[in-house]
Amino acid sequence: MNPLKKDYSWPGDWPSINELLEAAREARARSYSPYSRFPVGAALFVEGMDELIPACNVENSSYGLSICAERSAATAMIARGGRKPLAAAIVGVPGEPCLPCGACRQFLAEFNPDMVLVFEDGDSYVLSSLADLFPAPFLFGGEADEH
Ligand code: THU
Repeated sequence: MNPLKKDYSWPGDWPSINELLEAAREARARSYSPYSRFPVGAALFVEGMDELIPACNVENSSYGLSICAERSAATAMIARGGRKPLAAAIVGVPGEPCLPCGACRQFLAEFNPDMVLVFEDGDSYVLSSLADLFPAPFLFGGEADEH
């Protein structure tokens, strides 16, 4: 089953798909990825927030410390007061779907396991959901408090 679809529903009161993709592309252009030379950009549309949250991958001389664009975006969202990302655009090699790595799927699922995902696909895009790509995240079974 291909989880990437052209015909996913996109609510009319959300920013346009192209706006979200463009924010991710701008972030990709700011990527710090001198080691892999694989720039990635992500942008989140977050419940209750007017501005989109962009982020990119940031690598390090100590390779294992590098952080992916998606996790950077989630931490930026939290720092700005957001809690629930409704949609994320993720871009890597221009025109090719850049699927989030397993660690990022888990990290994003913390905040909304059902979020809609947008990827480049040639001159167009494809859509999916985190639930389709990562249907069974680990979620802490205990009582999480407001913080
Ligand atoms: N990367 C991301 O930013 N997001 C992903 O979903 C996959 C990989 C980054 C990590 C590293 O800086 C580079 O891409 C190559 O793996």
